[in-house]
Amino acid sequence: MINKKLENELNKQMNAELYSAYLYLSMGAYLSKQNLNGFSHWMQIQFQEEQSHAMKLFQYILDRGGEVKLEKIEKPKTTWEGIVDVFDNIVKHESKITSMINSLVDVAMTEKDHATVAMMQWYVSEQVEEEASVSLLYDQLKLIEGKGPGLFMLDREANQRVFTPAPTK
Ligand code: FEO
Repeated sequence: MINKKLENELNKQMNAELYSAYLYLSMGAYLSKQNLNGFSHWMQIQFQEEQSHAMKLFQYILDRGGEVKLEKIEKPKTTWEGIVDVFDNIVKHESKITSMINSLVDVAMTEKDHATVAMMQWYVSEQVEEEASVSLLYDQLKLIEGKGPGLFMLDREANQRVFTPAPTK
């Protein structure tokens, strides 16, 4: 059985993952309006991945005999100042998520909840991968100043992205 403090932290993280999903979906809609359909697809895949991050926590809370508490999801922004600004926001957002995950692991360690420490290692590694992939895209977009033929090349590459769900166990 999970203790109340950790249950609360896990529910908070689940809400943050759902907000992330919402944010990427909003970015996907914005980028589609900019005719960047490849990047819009990329955001919609990220929307699915974030939902799966939330669902992994949902299942874990239940598996540990805890209570899932669905709170209000913050409203995401709906407009940005172009694709470079979108990725600038993503880099900052994912860095905030990494800090939240690290804090959650700190709490699990303090509470000596080894199962939660072990489960959260997946998120720790996932954040390394996410931060690396969004930073690379951000740097490439800055190199081409978010325009020209380079943008269409990156848009085509973004269109190739496939959905990889978080493992449920
Ligand atoms: Fe689920 Fe983008 O972190």
